[in-house]
Formats: sequence, structure tokens, C-alpha cells
Amino acid sequence: MRKVLSLLFVVAMSVASWAQVSYEVIPLPRSIEPGKRGEVFTLRQNAAVAYPADNEQMASNARLLAEYLHQDAGFVVEPKADAGKTAAITLSLGLKSDNPEAYRITVSKRGVAIQGATEEGVFRGVQTLRKAIGTEAGEQVELPYVTIDDQPRFGYRGVHFDTSRHFFPVDFIKTYIDLMALHGCNQFHWHITDDQGWRFEVKSMPELAIKGSVREKTVLGCNTGLYDYRPYGGYYTQDECREIVAYAAKRFINIIPEIDLPGHMQGALHVYPELGCTGGPYEVWPIWGISEDVLCAGNPATLDFLKRVYDELCDVFPSKLINIGGDESPRVRWQQCPKCQAKMKELGLTREAQLQTYINKELDKYLSARGRTIIGWDEILDGGLSENTIVLSWRGTKGGIEAARQHHRVIMAPTDYCYIDYYQLRRDSERLYAIGGYVPLSKVYSLEPIPAELSEEESKYILGPQVNLWTEYIAFPDHAMYMLLPRLDAISEVQWTPKEQKNFDAFTVRLERMEKLYDKLGYKYCAKWE
Ligand code: ACM
Ligand code: ZN
Repeated sequence: MRKVLSLLFVVAMSVASWAQVSYEVIPLPRSIEPGKRGEVFTLRQNAAVAYPADNEQMASNARLLAEYLHQDAGFVVEPKADAGKTAAITLSLGLKSDNPEAYRITVSKRGVAIQGATEEGVFRGVQTLRKAIGTEAGEQVELPYVTIDDQPRFGYRGVHFDTSRHFFPVDFIKTYIDLMALHGCNQFHWHITDDQGWRFEVKSMPELAIKGSVREKTVLGCNTGLYDYRPYGGYYTQDECREIVAYAAKRFINIIPEIDLPGHMQGALHVYPELGCTGGPYEVWPIWGISEDVLCAGNPATLDFLKRVYDELCDVFPSKLINIGGDESPRVRWQQCPKCQAKMKELGLTREAQLQTYINKELDKYLSARGRTIIGWDEILDGGLSENTIVLSWRGTKGGIEAARQHHRVIMAPTDYCYIDYYQLRRDSERLYAIGGYVPLSKVYSLEPIPAELSEEESKYILGPQVNLWTEYIAFPDHAMYMLLPRLDAISEVQWTPKEQKNFDAFTVRLERMEKLYDKLGYKYCAKWE
């Protein structure tokens, strides 16, 4: 009897330890080929993680893997250059694939191997291994034999964050980047200026951030007419931005900065009222919505100003992609402004929308000369697109479809699926703190970024999907995280996993494991889903 019991105990223990590891992580890998049932590789504390010497990115990958396993599971592994065949985990390059982010994880009697097509591919594999191991490692981890072959469906996997309406500290921006890395996202769209605060330091115009970042008061709730009468400010120095860029780069995340123009500029107009059609004065806006006060398109000083801003922006952000905004820019001031009207006459333009295209074309030329490509919200279609522009489709998918048909590249972020400032549960407490409509987890998950209307050829112009997190009603990091999680999980499978493999019910099972990690790391998330 004792023997039977102890046998049962051994079986139960091994089932328990196998149950800890699951390769079905979020986003779900493309192919998971299990080995023979019951065969496991035992990873022990203090195991070596080998990486090729003289490759700083691979060394960084090894260090990050060690950091992740330690913080997630209290498990210690030791990065070692060229540790050779004795290492329990080996990171290497040389996987043959057209996709630079492809990786293969093999677990066999020889240990755990993560091989990537590039260093970036290895990093994506590191994330998968870390999530597979989870939060409860103990003294050893028993990894079932497996071969995972994986690569993302879309090359562009974006997450946006508005740090103008509310300012978020540098440490939280890094946490945001950590969350993106965990989910295999690779483009951080950083909305850094707006009517309610200019939050990017421009050294040649220091007052822009010093004065333009501070609003005297903030409206309470949804434009109630009541205010808090407390100054609110904060901006990012260029040194801080560089630090964030470097932090993201280690995690193979590109940062796309956005200076929104010609609308959403009251932060700047407050400091330089001569750049507005009426000459001001303008306040850093204390309310939410769409301001009619925009940059004057007929004043040559406007373009000079923008070029100075973008010069410094490009110095700080190496991203090939630069977002110039372009959304929600009313044209009433332009209609009444002698300078704008004279500019239209000079250029032979018949509609004010074409003035916006004129500015975009000038910036496109200027930034192209610096090797950059511009992105704009879909309103930039109104007056005609400049040559290389990428369209960010947010007012549904219509703009994206139109742009793809014009052979312009497209990022898909339609409000109904991708606006995660919208509420996620049908209850009053959620609605109170959210702008707009209802975007539950299941809705985000159901997005198909390639519209059925597009031909196969046109579909190639869809770079990938993105979620947007605006912060009019989100003032604190924990709240931002709650809006992000778990809808970030949903978009990550839309971005990464082949659509044939998506299944919402199976996804929610995977999500339960992810929540354990969120609990462990102190990440706030919405624990219910609809
Ligand atoms: C936007 O949501 N105004 C792009
Ligand atoms: Zn004007």
C-alpha cells in the first residue's frame, strides 16, 4: 500500500510540475509540436544560458531572459558567452527564414535551444519561453520536449499611448514597454503633444515644454464646466526620451513619436500665439474635445517652427517612422484667415483641406531627406496624400481601404475594435471613466485587420493593427494598465497569430495563466471579460 501511495505521489508530483509549463502562451505560437508524452528536460536553478560571444544584442537577450525568469518565478539562470554544449539553455542565430522575427524553440534531452533568424527573433522566443515557464518554478522546471516554430503574422504590431492629456512618469513608460515586449508588440506610438500639454523638450525653444506643458486647471469629468483649479504639468526631457528609446530598443521595440499637427496644438499656441490664425491669446486647454484653434497654414513661421521641432525630434528618436498626426483639425480659422486664404490663392488651392496636404507635403519632403517616413491619421486623406505617407485608419476601416487602394501603406486601428480608452464591461462604474463606446475583450479579439473589400494585391499594404490608449479620463498608471490588460492580450493575437488559429474560448484559457503573471508582477488588469 505504501508503495502504491508513493507511486501515486510521484505521478501526482510530476503531473503537477508538468502542469506548470504550458507552451500555449499569448500570443499563441504558430506551430507547437510536442515530443513524446512524458519526456521532459529538467532545468535546474543556476543553469547556464549560452549566447554567442561578441554579440551585444544576444548578450542582452540572455540577460533579459535571466531577469524575466527571476522576477516571474524566482528562478536563477546565468548568462554565459560561448558556454557551448554544456549550457541548459542556448541562444543562437542562423535560423533560415524570410521573416526576421522567426524563431524556433527546441526542448530535447540536450536542453532548451532558442534559435532566431535574427537577434530580434531570439528575443521573441525568449518571451515565449518565459511565458511557458510561468510563475511557479520551484527548484527545477520540467519542460516537456517540444519544437515550436513561430513568426508573427504582421510586421507592424503597434500600441499607442497618449501622455499629453495626462502625464505618465518615465518608469511607467518603461513598464508600458515591458508589457508590449511580453506580448510581442514592436511599435510604440507615443503621442507626446496635444492641446492639453506639450510634453517634449525642444532645446532651441525651451519655453515650449516649460510653459506649454502646464495647464492652469483641468475640467472635472466629461466637460462638466466644473474645474479642479490646480495647475497640471510634466514633460519628458530629451535625455529621458533617449533613455526610453534605448530601453525599448533592447526589447526590439521601435518608438514612433507623434507631434500632432496642424490641430491639437494649443499647448504650442499658448507659447507662440503668433503661429495661430487669430494671434491668440491661447491657453493650454483645460477641457477635452476638438479645438478650432490650429496652426496657421499661411504663416511661413509655422513651417519653420515645425521643422525646428522635427529636427530635434529626429535627433532623439531614430525611428524611420514619424507620426505627424493630422486628425481632428477644423478649418474654420483657415476660412477666415487672410494669410491662409492668400496661401491658397498662391498655391491655386480650392479647398482648405488642401492646405493641410500642403503642410504634410512640405514635412514629407523635409523628413524624407532625413530618411524618415511620415504616418498620419486618416483625415490626411481629405486633401490628398503626399507621396510616401502611411495612413493610420481610426475612423473605421474606410480610410485604410481607400489608402490601400491608392497603394499607400496602412496601419489599422478602427475605433470599434482598437480604442481601449473605451469601456470594457457593461456597467456604470466603467462608463464613468471612459470616453466613447464599448470595446470588450471579445471585440478586440474579433478584429480582422485585412478588410474583405481588398484584393490580395491591395492587402499587402496593410502593415498591421494597433490599439490606442487615449488618456482624457485616465490619470494614473494603474488605471492605464487596467485599460490595457487584458485587451493587449487580445490585440497581440490579432497581430501575431494566423487568423485560422484564433479561437476566443481557447484564448481565455490561456489568459488565466497570463493573469497569474500579472498578479505576480503587480500589474493591474480587468479580471472579468465580455
Ligand atoms: C483620434 O482618435 N483623434 C485619432
Ligand atoms: Zn491662418
